[in-house]
Amino acid sequence: MSSKAVTLPSGGSMPLLGLGTWLSPPGAVQEAMEVALDAGYQHFNCAYFDQSKADIGEALKRTMGEGRLKRDDLYVVSKLWNIFHAPQDVKLASLETLSLLKLDYLDLCLMHSPMGIGNINGELVPQKDGLLLHSDVDTWRAMEKVVDKGLVKSVGVSNFNVSQLERLLSVCRIKPAANQVELHPYLTQPELVEYCKSKGIVLIAYSPFGCPALPCPLGENSPVPLLENPTMKEIAQKHGKTSAQVLIRFHIQRGIATIPKSITLARIMEKAEVYDFHLTRYESRCWKD
Ligand SMILES: NC(=O)c1ccc[n+]([C@@H]2O[C@H](COP(=O)([O-])OP(=O)(O)OC[C@H]3O[C@@H](n4cnc5c(N)ncnc54)[C@H](OP(=O)(O)O)[C@@H]3O)[C@@H](O)[C@H]2O)c1
Repeated sequence: MSSKAVTLPSGGSMPLLGLGTWLSPPGAVQEAMEVALDAGYQHFNCAYFDQSKADIGEALKRTMGEGRLKRDDLYVVSKLWNIFHAPQDVKLASLETLSLLKLDYLDLCLMHSPMGIGNINGELVPQKDGLLLHSDVDTWRAMEKVVDKGLVKSVGVSNFNVSQLERLLSVCRIKPAANQVELHPYLTQPELVEYCKSKGIVLIAYSPFGCPALPCPLGENSPVPLLENPTMKEIAQKHGKTSAQVLIRFHIQRGIATIPKSITLARIMEKAEVYDFHLTRYESRCWKD
């Protein structure tokens, strides 16, 4: 009914559904990955500060060692964390990530944020106005060299807005393949989505359920949690699906990849069943209340 993968500007293809791993405790993530692999997931999203990186590496190694999937069948994404923006740190950080994940290469490495965090005399100092620690352009050039060395197949960004992307596109040798940003019906970012589409940059939607593990701090002014939004529940019921499946479908049917996190085995399996229904144009736009 719809494609399960999207083609990147660099030529490879990325499965639209991936497993997020942030806040997945070590131990639980290995079982989650086993179930995800059985359910057909091939795309796994990691980050430098994920506490479960070594467990993810073990699970990937076991999968390949047992011959369940070849390296080419997996799509592993990780990120360059903000303390490694100095150009001389980029290759070392990539090698450390590969070592922890027990891989020879990453399919996609994202600059986690346009803002670096500097290490000034042993203290971590966030980048702020008037204090430019490292230009994201210099960091990007070092990431391009990591592609040249074969350590990563593609490079991309995360949490970049339109003007940050424009600046990068005006100077880059390798175009960012993807931009991973928070996207869901409460945060649709239409200008950014249109811009990325027009430039062929693949979008990866993080927190597709609005990150219920970290509830909105607005107290009684908080919106209804996305998974409990009554309009969305109605749509889910109409299609014989769950709210989570509808929230995933919202992205993948318009070619946006998404990486819902779960360590609950039934939820992981349920999320793979999102290719047998279609949201109408109206259903894709009516959940903002
Ligand atoms: N690039 C970035 O800056 C950035 C930022 C944030 C996140 N991310 C990535 O995006 C991934 C996903 O985002 P996220 O973790 O923020 O939030 P999310 O995927 O929106 O939500 C995950 C939470 O929803 C729960 N959940 C999953 N399926 C459910 C279901 N069917 N019904 C009810 N609850 C359900 C999970 O609980 P259980 O695990 O207990 O099932 C978990 O607590 C992260 O893991 C991370 O890899 C990237």
